[in-house]
Amino acid sequence: MEQHFDLDTRGGLPADLKALLEKYPREQWSGHANLGQTAQFWLGRHDMFRDLGSALADALSQHREGKVELDPFRRWFAPRLGFFLRELEGHHQIEDHHYFPVFQQAEAKLARGFELLESDHEVIHQDLLAVAETANRFLAMEAAGEASPSSEARRAADAYAAASEQLLRRLIRHLADEEDLIIPLILDRGEAAIGI
Ligand SMILES: [Fe+2]
Ligand SMILES: [Fe+2]
Repeated sequence: MEQHFDLDTRGGLPADLKALLEKYPREQWSGHANLGQTAQFWLGRHDMFRDLGSALADALSQHREGKVELDPFRRWFAPRLGFFLRELEGHHQIEDHHYFPVFQQAEAKLARGFELLESDHEVIHQDLLAVAETANRFLAMEAAGEASPSSEARRAADAYAAASEQLLRRLIRHLADEEDLIIPLILDRGEAAIGI
């Protein structure tokens, strides 16, 4: 993988992919005439992933700090984590198979950008699997351990916390860079001309 593609170390899009972003900086997005319904819906989905991701992280911290009991924690947490993982996987599949090819057709110069985003999706897919696996183990241990968690249960909780922290950190970077590549293109051309 090219160094500046690396989701863990890059600080944003590579410079050669930022020409349109310089023309349409974030301050201009909201209320722009070309920010149509598809773009607004899509940005809303991204915000949902950010909000739910941080709510899941907060819930875990509160439980681990002893502020929320096991039962209410599990009842709140398990269905929302499942929803988050399923929706995120589906979101990336729609982008890979439907939206990215349409955007690339609209602007061939951005092909490298979509390679970068697709490679992010592959990395994040592995993170999703790791989060699901560690979550199952963590929640099963919690259920068995009840009031006094064993050291094995604590390790399972640590493993889940590490996997989910890595997923969220990478996802936040990915969402921002994806928006920085795609929204300026939409503002430049308009949704109807692009075909979305
Ligand atoms: Fe994506
Ligand atoms: Fe996305």
